[in-house]
Amino acid sequence: MKSLSDFLKHVQVDVEASLNEYLPSDTSDVLAQAMRYACLGGGKRIRAALVLGTARLSEQTISQDAVKRAQAAIEMIHAYSLVHDDLPCMDDDDLRRGKPTVHKAFNESIALLVGDGLQAKAFEVLSAADVDAQILIKVLNALSMAAFKMVQGQMIDLSSVGLKLSQAQLAHMHSLKTGAMIESSVMMGAYLAGLDKSACERLLTFAQSIGLAFQVIDDILDATVSTEDLGKTANKDATHDKPTYVSIMGLSAAKDLAEKLYAQAIEALAVFDEKADILRGLADLIVKRTN
Ligand code: IPE
Ligand code: IPE
Ligand code: MG
Ligand code: MG
Ligand code: MG
Repeated sequence: MKSLSDFLKHVQVDVEASLNEYLPSDTSDVLAQAMRYACLGGGKRIRAALVLGTARLSEQTISQDAVKRAQAAIEMIHAYSLVHDDLPCMDDDDLRRGKPTVHKAFNESIALLVGDGLQAKAFEVLSAADVDAQILIKVLNALSMAAFKMVQGQMIDLSSVGLKLSQAQLAHMHSLKTGAMIESSVMMGAYLAGLDKSACERLLTFAQSIGLAFQVIDDILDATVSTEDLGKTANKDATHDKPTYVSIMGLSAAKDLAEKLYAQAIEALAVFDEKADILRGLADLIVKRTN
């Protein structure tokens, strides 16, 4: 297997090209330009990497077109969630992926419409995939459920400002707002790969663990990394009095929890051979990342 960094680099280049192809491109259309601004030229593309990494577990030849569309679709929904998350009525952030946020570079109403447009575009792109209709319905269902869970999580996030949530409440919020999208990346890959029920169950456990770990690490990075290195405003959660793993349990316990979730994720992959090494590597990256 190629090294994980090669794999990720390839995903980043390929996803950039697919998004470039699928997004509207009319240079005289401000909405099209703002949608491209939100999606292109940045982002780690971890969700797209999880789609492909899971699809590669397949023993059979699978639709490359469907994988490519699922990768673009998850990254579009994710980009939409970031554009709305940054709005003044949400987290009020000026910086995203090292650039001014969409409402700063354009304006608030455009940012609102960019999110709406990206969500619709994601489903348009995915629904045109060249794959068996039964499989496509499962994939579309996984993505639409995750998109709604993300919104439910954001609702809890906004209504939890200033509150001291229990660890269970925090896990619930994080699993919804961030975990669900990570989960659907893995499950879309699993459905496209035609994996059996027991493999899908193991992968769901894997995805739930890394999904929660992803936001635990995001909370840790917010509290420990500079704005420059993050590409988004540092220390935002404390400034906004958001309940996070760092504020609830402290930095060191939050790091321990991320390690525990990583171990659970790796354990869930025990039944898979070296084909799952990409997923093992992505789990490692999720807990070791520095931005
Ligand atoms: C940031 O996600 C928002 C969260 C869900 C925590 P990423 O850290 O994956 O952001 P990009 O796509 O790399 O910018
Ligand atoms: C956002 O969580 C999760 C989303 C659904 C976008 P955060 O608000 O912590 O994400 P960042 O730190 O702004 O990227
Ligand atoms: Mg937020
Ligand atoms: Mg935010
Ligand atoms: Mg954050």
